Amino acid sequence: MRFSHGLVPLFLFLCVLVWSCSETLHCQAQTLPQSEVDALKKIGARWRMHWDFTVNPCNGTSGWFDQTNPAKPIGVMCSGCDIGNCHVINIILPDQNLTGSLPDEFSNFTSLQVIDLSLNYLNGTIPFAWASLPLINLNLWGNRITGQIPDQLGEIATLQFINLASNLLEGSLPETLGNLSRLGTVELRSNNFTNSLPKSLGNLKSMVNFLISGNPISGEIPGFIGNWTELQILHIQGTFLEGPFPPIFSTLGKIRFLEVSNLKGDDGKFPALQNMTNLQPLVLRNMSITNGIPTYIGNMTMLQKLDLSYNGLTGPIPDNFESLTNLKYLFLNYNKLTGAIPDWMLTSTLIRIDISYNSFNAPHAPSDCFTGFANLVSSYSSTDDNSIKSCLRRNNPCSGIHENHNLFYKLWRPCKMIIDGNEYQDDTINQGASDYHSFDEDKWAFSSTGYFMDVEDHPYIAKNVLSISSAFDSNLNCT
Ligand SMILES: *[C@@H]1O[C@H](CO)[C@@H](O)[C@H](O)[C@H]1NC(C)=O
Ligand SMILES: *[C@@H]1O[C@H](CO)[C@@H](O)[C@H](O)[C@H]1NC(C)=O
Ligand SMILES: *[C@@H]1O[C@H](CO)[C@@H](O)[C@H](O)[C@H]1NC(C)=O
Ligand SMILES: *[C@@H]1O[C@H](CO)[C@@H](O)[C@H](O)[C@H]1NC(C)=O
Ligand SMILES: *[C@@H]1O[C@H](CO)[C@@H](O)[C@H](O)[C@H]1NC(C)=O
Ligand SMILES: *[C@@H]1O[C@H](CO)[C@@H](O)[C@H](O)[C@H]1NC(C)=O
Ligand SMILES: *[C@@H]1O[C@H](CO)[C@@H](O)[C@H](O)[C@H]1NC(C)=O
Ligand SMILES: *[C@@H]1O[C@H](CO)[C@@H](O)[C@H](O)[C@H]1NC(C)=O
Ligand SMILES: *[C@@H]1O[C@H](CO)[C@@H](O)[C@H](O)[C@H]1NC(C)=O
Ligand SMILES: *[C@@H]1O[C@H](CO)[C@@H](O)[C@H](O)[C@H]1NC(C)=O
Repeated sequence: MRFSHGLVPLFLFLCVLVWSCSETLHCQAQTLPQSEVDALKKIGARWRMHWDFTVNPCNGTSGWFDQTNPAKPIGVMCSGCDIGNCHVINIILPDQNLTGSLPDEFSNFTSLQVIDLSLNYLNGTIPFAWASLPLINLNLWGNRITGQIPDQLGEIATLQFINLASNLLEGSLPETLGNLSRLGTVELRSNNFTNSLPKSLGNLKSMVNFLISGNPISGEIPGFIGNWTELQILHIQGTFLEGPFPPIFSTLGKIRFLEVSNLKGDDGKFPALQNMTNLQPLVLRNMSITNGIPTYIGNMTMLQKLDLSYNGLTGPIPDNFESLTNLKYLFLNYNKLTGAIPDWMLTSTLIRIDISYNSFNAPHAPSDCFTGFANLVSSYSSTDDNSIKSCLRRNNPCSGIHENHNLFYKLWRPCKMIIDGNEYQDDTINQGASDYHSFDEDKWAFSSTGYFMDVEDHPYIAKNVLSISSAFDSNLNCT
């Protein structure tokens, strides 16, 4: 191929131009529009970000975008800079101690797709001005945001993912959310949303994850959830919603995470879950279910967590539960289960089991109330049969003499102490989930249920260890 003499210098000139554009902030074709730079300057000053405006914010370096952990990149990300259409597209600043209100100035980033300001201390309301943005992902969980979800959010037709969990939001969910036909995730847990779910949500055929636990949302579980045929995650724990599930619910075979509790007005029947063969957690707690546990539950081999506690379940534990090999938590406490406690439960060292407060009644009761993995306290029906250990019996007769009114307990010290004539006993066992311990020949005992839902060592978990010397005179000695 031969270039004509005129084209070679032009080609070289273009190369120099492209090179210089990629190297300097002043080349308009390759850098952010001034309005976006100005908006970044305002936001950066307010949040005291160490943003270096002497380099191109779209350089992807110099503190603008940190990809040292590729799974969790942080910072400001641009796009289109190589084709002369440079814009901020992602602002990802989770866990940065940001304070103050949500910035109106985001509306100047006309191509903004991702806002992630989760786990900060941001307050104020969600700006109306954001409605003009082509957002795909709006993640504000774990802040102090107040007010209602603005109706204008329903104008962002591109939205696929909304996470507003753990804020102070209130009011009804806006009817306009039903316009967001691409919406796949609605995560609103732990707010103060009220009233019933808007009917328009029935239009959202792409709904995959719907989480509203911990909101005083009321009304019946709407029949329109039958339209959410892609649904995989449904969390409705601790709301004011009323059962039972509409019959169409049983057709949603893709659900993998089903966590429901405290439904009022239920019909007492176990919901029909035959088609949900991929369930991993199944939580149906405190739902007034009074029939037996269906045997098909034992065929849900993916189950990791099964919590059917605080119902009125009757009949035996199905035999096929033993084949649930992925199970880590099994909570059947506070029911009316009868028959025998299966032997495998007493020897299991892989599953945290809580079957306390039931009505088991087969002969050959277990010999103790805690196996190290299973809490069995009061799991047997009331009986005067003294061959059954008292802590196992539902009426839990006290085996010791009733003279413990001066016993002070739960003092974290590896010894017993007498202070002002009161006896303080040691409590050195690090109690955890679904635990039972008795102390001082069964004079007092400790029983727990549930499990810790969060990552055990997350930095936002606070521990308060009381030093005994600050509470009492350090000269006190163990007896
Ligand atoms: C991009 O960042 C690097 C590293 O800080 C710097 O050397 C380079 O000059 C920057 N380029 C532009 C165009 O800002
Ligand atoms: C940002 O946009 C608003 C209108 O939404 C406008 O008034 C303001 O001047 C813009 N800011 C900058 C820095 O361009
Ligand atoms: C946020 O504040 C905490 C406590 O002062 C500090 O340990 C942490 O490093 C800060 N995080 C950032 C990203 O500045
Ligand atoms: C928002 O937070 C800032 C700083 O943390 C505080 O000064 C301001 O009073 C708060 N505003 C509201 C409405 O709570
Ligand atoms: C959005 O939804 C509301 C209420 O459901 C409706 O009145 C409005 O016409 C919708 N807007 C668009 C643009 O579809
Ligand atoms: C929730 O909202 C109600 C009003 O609807 C209000 O009375 C209540 O104080 C709010 N609760 C919290 C925790 O903000
Ligand atoms: C399900 O979606 C269709 C639109 O495809 C709508 O006409 C219907 O009303 C929805 N069903 C419910 C119960 O909302
Ligand atoms: C399970 O799904 C099949 C086909 O998808 C359907 O015919 C059946 O009615 C469903 N079962 C229940 C209990 O909904
Ligand atoms: C069960 O749910 C009811 C509301 O329906 C509530 O009042 C009660 O405290 C709940 N019990 C438990 C153990 O969660
Ligand atoms: C459970 O699975 C077994 C083996 O695949 C099957 O024979 C049985 O009918 C299933 N039970 C129920 C209740 O679905």
